Amino acid sequence: MITRDAALEILHEFTKSESLRRHALQVETCVAAYARKFGGDEEKWRITALLHDFDWEIHPEAPDHPMKGEPMLAERGVPEDVRRAILSHANYSGVPRESQLEKALFACDELSGFISACALVKPSRKVAEVDVKSVRKKMKDKAFARSVNREDIVHGAAGLGADLDEHIAFCISAMQANAQAIGL
Ligand SMILES: [Fe+2]
Ligand SMILES: [Fe+2]
Repeated sequence: MITRDAALEILHEFTKSESLRRHALQVETCVAAYARKFGGDEEKWRITALLHDFDWEIHPEAPDHPMKGEPMLAERGVPEDVRRAILSHANYSGVPRESQLEKALFACDELSGFISACALVKPSRKVAEVDVKSVRKKMKDKAFARSVNREDIVHGAAGLGADLDEHIAFCISAMQANAQAIGL
């Protein structure tokens, strides 16, 4: 098993974009909160989230991301279950989401990005101002944060067996509790 610091080093080696690094930290924040809720191995869950898009800059096209990134992680000592979870976050990978970690990663990926987008249009640009109602309202606004797939958000919550509003509230509070570190 590698450490979180080693995972961050891999992330920074291949991801130079500040916003993509921030995305990794935001997904990590939500996934770690679910690890605590479900009694998962928090360090492992964090590492998975930090690395899920590590190869996006070098493999901007699907399915190269994350398929070609996965063996690179294997070479760097990232364990099999973490790599499998990373593969499973891409619908086209053919790897079904089975473990709680896999379901949590998928459920938090698009949603944390969407919550971040909701925060950045608030006057303070802070996640402290974001609530479930405003997120649900923005989800209906097709012109807003168009790159975020709403269906993935809905399916992610369902995969976790969570009510959508509860899942959104859970991720908002996890991000609020770590707002400074995730740039919100
Ligand atoms: Fe991805
Ligand atoms: Fe992602």
